[in-house]
Amino acid sequence: MDKLLSVEAVAATEAGAIAAARLMGRGDRDGADRAAVEAMRRAMEDAEISGTIVIGEGERDEAPMLYIGEKVGNPEAATTVDIAVDPLEGTNLVATGSPNATAVLAAAEPGGLMHAPDTYLRKLIVGPSVAGKVSINDPVAVTLSTVASSLGRNVWDITVVILDRPRHEQLIADVRATGARIKLISDGDLTAGINAAVSGTGIHAVMGTGGAPEGVLAAAALKCLGGEIQGKFEWRSHEEKERARAMGVNVDDEDGVYFTDDLASGENVVFSATGVTDGELLRGVRFFGGGARTHSLLMSYERAVIRFIDTVHTFDRQIPPRVRL
Ligand code: FBP
Repeated sequence: MDKLLSVEAVAATEAGAIAAARLMGRGDRDGADRAAVEAMRRAMEDAEISGTIVIGEGERDEAPMLYIGEKVGNPEAATTVDIAVDPLEGTNLVATGSPNATAVLAAAEPGGLMHAPDTYLRKLIVGPSVAGKVSINDPVAVTLSTVASSLGRNVWDITVVILDRPRHEQLIADVRATGARIKLISDGDLTAGINAAVSGTGIHAVMGTGGAPEGVLAAAALKCLGGEIQGKFEWRSHEEKERARAMGVNVDDEDGVYFTDDLASGENVVFSATGVTDGELLRGVRFFGGGARTHSLLMSYERAVIRFIDTVHTFDRQIPPRVRL
């Protein structure tokens, strides 16, 4: 199943990334998002999978495409999957030409990805050497001391990514008190979470509250990378909580911690991300006359394969592709 799924997944994220990257720096976050959604939707039209969107652009009435519950691909296809998409992670990042915007898709056998409501999730994300050794319920100083020792570093040698939001004032103060370095980001805690699980990116943990759908997508990636996410739902309203209950989340367990395998329980998890703008892990889309080049991360949990894919796309056969190292 996952060979076919992988090909379809990366084709979709490449298409989304190219469409969004065209609009880089235009100050039009909605336009860039729409372009990515339409391109990803088109790419999935011909896919030989029978897919159901479980995390997408919202409910049917607010999203014309890739809405939760939408069927994509070929309903007759033998491969049936649940699909989570974030066609453009970091809409503002593209609007301003800032780093780390990505097009993302995860897929798994039906039921293999949590149907997370569009609410907030408090997150702790770490890489493989730290996975299983930390708890989101511990004080920040304890967590960062464990992160540092697990990586064979001092705490002042680790970098924590935090979304730059007023709600994180106390968290930022607590991290600063430990001496750890902080990278405040304007958007994109999903991309940061993937980076935390890849050595060489210079990112060692992600802390703080961001989107719950991004948490599920991060879980799919971290499962493949051997990292870990722990999350606690943070409801913004009673209505949000009730919608989550209707989606099957145990909202009465106020203190419930959701681990990587709770958010992405599937055995056949496939994850694909394509860079839209340059980032620590993926290069952004580079256009040339008649084509573009994309850089993607494609992973399969079942087959334990992690691929970096560098693709040259030719749009115009009259112009020969420009391939260089
Ligand atoms: P978009 O791609 O939809 O713009 O979201 C980006 C993002 O920064 C996520 O990475 C993050 O989880 C979430 O928004 C944070 O939400 P908020 O902006 O409400 O703090």
